[in-house]
Amino acid sequence: MNTLYQHHCLRLMDFTPNELKNIIFLAQKLKIDKKNNIEKQLLKKKNIALIFDKESTRTRCSFEVAAFDQGANVTYLGPNSTHLGTKESIEDTAQVLSRLYDGIQYRGHSHHIIETISKYSKVPVWNGLTDQFHPTQLISDLLTIKEIMPNKLFSEITCAYVGDAHNNMGNSFLEAAALVGLNLRLVAPRECWPDKNLFITCQEEAKKNNGNIICTENIEKGVKNADFIYTDVWVSMGEKETIWDKRIQLLRKYQVNASMLDMSNNTHIKILHCLPALHDQETKIGQSILKKYGFENGMEITNDIFKKNKNIIFEQAENRLHTIKSLLVSSLSQKIYL
Ligand code: CP
Ligand code: NVA
Repeated sequence: MNTLYQHHCLRLMDFTPNELKNIIFLAQKLKIDKKNNIEKQLLKKKNIALIFDKESTRTRCSFEVAAFDQGANVTYLGPNSTHLGTKESIEDTAQVLSRLYDGIQYRGHSHHIIETISKYSKVPVWNGLTDQFHPTQLISDLLTIKEIMPNKLFSEITCAYVGDAHNNMGNSFLEAAALVGLNLRLVAPRECWPDKNLFITCQEEAKKNNGNIICTENIEKGVKNADFIYTDVWVSMGEKETIWDKRIQLLRKYQVNASMLDMSNNTHIKILHCLPALHDQETKIGQSILKKYGFENGMEITNDIFKKNKNIIFEQAENRLHTIKSLLVSSLSQKIYL
């Protein structure tokens, strides 16, 4: 039986450890089948609404391509293109969309909005990023980690997540580690540690799954003998411009650079990033912020380290497609993909 059928995905803790592992396993199969051109379509005639109240490259394109590959149709509803929350309540919008569509993706600001959509939706709702969680990114990252270390159990793998550990990525990393039993070290100044209750819940769940989670301000302790260092931007979408000063002051020394890699004591360490990354000055933000604060060579990650790990980082981005497809197939198809 497919327990994920008609299942919402607002955060990873909506799944059991086995359900999450099954989504990763199915993604591996779908990836191979697509590459061998033998993918079977299980979502013909399904219609999917994609609500984006924030910008996106990977998440939007992955939902669209995943749906098309599986025979489903999508409607993209960009920022300010629906009445949601302005002229029509979240409750009414959710009721209407769930009569027209078989599933709803939401990316936006407050996590409370997607909770309300899911409360009134009769069809599965998937979180494509809110201020609190980014579950589909972490499913992709778990697949990438598994591909790099296929012979190791998650409980034998150590990841250091460095930087802003109280954002959507930090929170979802906690939940991912809890469910699959990773050894996770959140390496950040105390001001950027996640909510205490979420941390304790995840730590307890991780222990049940042979994992371990710690928070530390100490960079050397955090990255020593790690298999992976993961980082994300220091200021997330939707945060106020005025936060840059304080965040940079707090996180400057948590930049992923050559000296941090030396501290890991692991010459084979792999670097992950969910992207987009401020690793050079080839963007508007890169030009203004990096120059303003005197970052010559990237902000949360230096350009040399980014470039050296780009194959892994872009594989992570590609895996968004395969894992989002797995999520769509699992929640919209009663038939198991064999
Ligand atoms: N990583 C990620 O979610 O990328 P987008 O913002 O481009 O969707
Ligand atoms: N923390 C980042 C993640 C981007 C994928 C943000 O919310 O902007």
